[in-house]
Amino acid sequence: MLFILVLILFSLIIFNFQKYWIRFKLAFKIPGPWFIPFIGCVQIAAKLKPEEITGVVQNLREKYKRTFRLFLGPNLWVFLHTPQEIKEALNNLTLRRAADFQQLKPILGEGLLLSEEKKWITRRRALTPAFHAKLLQDFTGRIIFHADVLIKNLERTCGKPIEISDMIFHCILDTICETSMGAEINSQSDSNCPYAKAYHQAFHILFQRMVNPLLGFDFIFNRLEASKQLSNSIKIIHDMTGKLIKERRELITQQYNANNENELNEILKDEIGKQKKMAMLDILLNINIDGKYLSDQDIKDEVNTFLFAGVDTTKAAMCFALYNLAKYPIIQKKIYNEISLIKSTLNESTITMEQIKSLNILDQFLKESLRLHTIVPMTGRKTTCEIKIGDIIYPKNISIWINMYGLAHDENFFSNPYEFDLERFSKDSEIINQYTYLPFSAGPHNCIGKRYSELIMKIILIQIIENFKLSLRNPNEKLELISEMVLSARQGFNLVFKKRK
Ligand code: HEM
Repeated sequence: MLFILVLILFSLIIFNFQKYWIRFKLAFKIPGPWFIPFIGCVQIAAKLKPEEITGVVQNLREKYKRTFRLFLGPNLWVFLHTPQEIKEALNNLTLRRAADFQQLKPILGEGLLLSEEKKWITRRRALTPAFHAKLLQDFTGRIIFHADVLIKNLERTCGKPIEISDMIFHCILDTICETSMGAEINSQSDSNCPYAKAYHQAFHILFQRMVNPLLGFDFIFNRLEASKQLSNSIKIIHDMTGKLIKERRELITQQYNANNENELNEILKDEIGKQKKMAMLDILLNINIDGKYLSDQDIKDEVNTFLFAGVDTTKAAMCFALYNLAKYPIIQKKIYNEISLIKSTLNESTITMEQIKSLNILDQFLKESLRLHTIVPMTGRKTTCEIKIGDIIYPKNISIWINMYGLAHDENFFSNPYEFDLERFSKDSEIINQYTYLPFSAGPHNCIGKRYSELIMKIILIQIIENFKLSLRNPNEKLELISEMVLSARQGFNLVFKKRK
């Protein structure tokens, strides 16, 4: 018996050593900090707190000036350097999302962010039309409605300095809930909204799990109070999405059963008599893949993915955009003038997509804001087979990191990269390489919600700029690099919203 146990143990060591040896050999071909075999770069691992990761990786990028590696325990992490390597990685479909994303499975199931292979390909193809410009156009009215509630809440601050992230969070949550699910949760007006609380709590805990390796172990996490809180919040979120899907499915079935067109139109009208616009949920309910409609679970996964991938990212991007408006009053004035000019030519009170598109300075401003404050600073992939990227051959099971923050702050691609420069994205400037500017990533897994979030941000910014003059409570208030990485963290600056006359 003892002999068998020793044999098993010995085989395990040999097997793991073989796996490790392949990584070990690769580690010598790529520069990186010193490491202790099997333990890794202890001097770096100690610094890898969530709020410091981007800073540490940025320093290493500037030090090595080429693709570098880190050993964390027995795991090898490679940080790609050049736009060409990044292009190859982002377009290689054999790479999978990093294992850390799997922590999100309880809430996102097999939605677009976590699904793989054939499932991802068919879903991505089927979901893309839901983000088509023509459909987004239908959302403008409802986005303006939620932006107006935000304006009223900002008016109540009476010019006193405020930390804006919670207000923006609720505005974006309400907007995305309504446009994606047709649900009016009104968390901006109802501070006790159970769905908003559940969303906040669930995503906060899941984010902690993603960035804290200890919480990644189920046997540790399941013993913590946070685990119970997470289950409760997930239940609230699933119950609400489940209820909405059921109601909407029933309504659509009624539509199909209604023979006469008038009857059908009646069903589609809401209580106040306006034609009800299609939410993304309707599109999901109508998706038919190989003769089969998506199940309620499939739809739940996709809707929750839109919320997870869309709310905190758009909120963070909005907060930084407001910070930049307040910090650069001359730019703010230019955008105000541009908006006033367009608004003066409006026949109707609601701005159209075409008019939003013609706001060039606003567009340049948002692009530069997303560059300077890279909302998703890095994304990870895992090799599933041997692949070549650049001139390096990577074996299976290597973590490959795409450092969007590093590229956006590389002076070889952006002069004075830490400065806000509106001209970078002007029509007259040089065309920027798609693989150096990656706020929404690129390649087949790029952000499906890019146009959607840009539309939301532009509409809210237009409403705010039209109504208020923004300034920083303290004009010398400087953003620390630290605040740029933790999406869900408070942004740590106070803004003053002074009503325009
Ligand atoms: C400023 C706001 C946003 C930013 C900065 C952002 C950024 C990104 C990035 C960088 C990725 C690629 C991640 C990777 O390659 O691993 C991504 C993917 C994704 N985003 Fe966004 N996003 C934003 C808003 C949204 C919104 C509003 C939605 C809502 C629908 C959304 C839905 C998704 C989905 C579903 C994916 C996965 C796509 C796939 O793998 O096929 N995002 N996003």
